Amino acid sequence: MDLNVVILAAGKGTRMKSSLPKVLQPLAKKPLLSHVLQTSLQLQATRVIVVHGYGGDQVKDMISQQFPDSPIEWVEQKEQLGTGHAVKQALPQLQAGSRTLVLYGDVPLIRAETLNQFLQTVGTGQCGVLTVKLAEPKGYGRIVRDDTGVVRQIVEEKDASPDIRKIDEVSTGILLADTRDLQTWLPKVTNQNAQGEYYLTDLIKIANDHDAAVTASLVENPAEVEGVNDKHQLARLERLYQQLLADELMAAGATLLDPARIDIRGRVRVGQDCSIDVNCVFEGDVELGDNVEISANCVLINCKIGSNTVVHPNCVIEKAVIGEDCEVGPFARMRPGTELKEKAKVGNFVETKNTVLGKGSKASHLTYLGDTVTGEKVNVGAGTITCNYDGANKFKTIIGDGAFIGSNSSLVAPLEIGAGATIGAGSTITKGADPNALTVARAKQVTISGWKRPEKKK
Ligand code: UD1
Ligand code: CA
Repeated sequence: MDLNVVILAAGKGTRMKSSLPKVLQPLAKKPLLSHVLQTSLQLQATRVIVVHGYGGDQVKDMISQQFPDSPIEWVEQKEQLGTGHAVKQALPQLQAGSRTLVLYGDVPLIRAETLNQFLQTVGTGQCGVLTVKLAEPKGYGRIVRDDTGVVRQIVEEKDASPDIRKIDEVSTGILLADTRDLQTWLPKVTNQNAQGEYYLTDLIKIANDHDAAVTASLVENPAEVEGVNDKHQLARLERLYQQLLADELMAAGATLLDPARIDIRGRVRVGQDCSIDVNCVFEGDVELGDNVEISANCVLINCKIGSNTVVHPNCVIEKAVIGEDCEVGPFARMRPGTELKEKAKVGNFVETKNTVLGKGSKASHLTYLGDTVTGEKVNVGAGTITCNYDGANKFKTIIGDGAFIGSNSSLVAPLEIGAGATIGAGSTITKGADPNALTVARAKQVTISGWKRPEKKK
């Protein structure tokens, strides 16, 4: 039977106290809804439908951008009258003769394996609900079973008697039913309850009234089905998720000096024997070769680091390719378009952008290299600045193999420094430099004897 997935994402999320719709709140820098969508797309569903509402097209636009190639369908719920009302809006979109799985945009960590298991457990013609036992069930809908253990209904917290509130088995919100049954049952849901909302969870009682079998499937790990309603829960889930990603990284062989102090907002791939010190943040796609050492407090974004390279503390590396046997930092900033060839070295307070540093070349201190290509074994002295921008356009600096740039030089691009050239310290080079020669461009030193320092007027 075909599977349709409906994801509820229309609510405002009042408890977030934010202008951003709840399902766009970030978990590991990605909207909550994107996590649910990514999982949904792993199920063999013929249709994935998102119900959006609060925030107008903001949710639709932002999420569509993130999933440009996925056939996601959108349904608008103009007024947020409850989860039952939300699913009802999607009914016209659902395929006849299919089963429908309802997911919540604010339950982000549910795994595809768990859902596939759930899909297998619930037979055709049955109504399934995914449940979980919580030490603190407060806020969730309680699962009410009869003496024989059959699930009879779900009672929301606000409608629950003190006795029902004591029940520790709760609804995750995730529900599965034959689409045809949904079509019969949903119109029977009313808003006669404490919140005046059309509860999707009322379907369980309605299914019972229609003598349909209800199957409750219990999830073992509560973290997977925790909902996010406020900033506390968001922070809690962020930690749980980071712990999970840290575990995966260690399973892949990485040494984490403290798995509780790493943040992964994307994907990290590691070779053998990589070591990551505390407080590092990884974003986008990051790839580390073998035996890479990332020291404390580094931020690595969409970059690749070659084998045996050491990144010293406090570096920021973004959209850069660092080769093998390199050294970076401490306190270095490798900006987009940076490429370090093998055995290159960049030291403290060095910034590079759109720059290739050749094999074995060094810029060890206090330097800015922009739009620069250096050959092999170049030594860039402390305080060297490439002046690559005239206020309107950018220009290139080319430095040949074995060149030596004296400290505190300004290289005014466009410029070519020949191989083996030496630039005298403090030079401002505007016309290029011949290979294998010394070029000095600075005022000559003079000594004025008998000169007196000015004195303060009385
Ligand atoms: C819901 C369940 C509760 C369950 C809990 C699990 C109902 C009535 N209650 O409660 O049994 O234990 O989730 O996390 O379903 N939404 C819409 N349109 C609406 C209202 C909500 O699309 O009109 C969306 C929200 O954006 C959200 C999801 O549905 O993604 C759940 O809504 P929320 O208000 O957070 O429900 P809970 O009170 O958490
Ligand atoms: Ca919720």
